[in-house]
Amino acid sequence: MKKQKIMVNILGLKITRHDTGAALISDKGVVAISEERLNRIKYSKNIFPELAISYCLKDSKIKPEEIDLIVIDQILLRSDFQAEKKFREWDKNNQFSKARIEVINHHDAHAASAFFCSPFDEAAVLIYDGYGEITMNQLGIPVAETETFYYGKENKLIEVQKTTHPVIQGARGRDMITRKHRYTIC
Ligand SMILES: [Fe+2]
Repeated sequence: MKKQKIMVNILGLKITRHDTGAALISDKGVVAISEERLNRIKYSKNIFPELAISYCLKDSKIKPEEIDLIVIDQILLRSDFQAEKKFREWDKNNQFSKARIEVINHHDAHAASAFFCSPFDEAAVLIYDGYGEITMNQLGIPVAETETFYYGKENKLIEVQKTTHPVIQGARGRDMITRKHRYTIC
């Protein structure tokens, strides 16, 4: 039996912190844009990417009700900020009600965009990022992920190791220390 190709329309969103935006993957290709390109507000920090969503839909000629899956990355503590709730509140008219929403880890999103768009079937993937998802460590201290190492094979990414830093000091604190002492991180 011939394999049937199943196409889904996937809307990827970044709705918190800097550079909010949207990307739409469909059988027509990929359309992506940052909110700042449309509202002319640099970095558009914490500005919900409604103009970017409209742009992606219009350019792809896809209606909101044709979106099957919405993927949102998580940065803030999940107990403080519920990305799915935020999206549903914005979608007052339930235009996207048919879409399932998946909230994924920020570094997983970086790793997926790098590995799945690469020409490699197998690769080591290192995400070195100033400030990823914030979680609580065993001591109840909020920590932000800074580096995550993955093993990528075919359609899978396996997390191998993750480094975090307390949010109080944060990645910026670490950068200040390395600059002061002239350490180089490769
Ligand atoms: Fe990041």
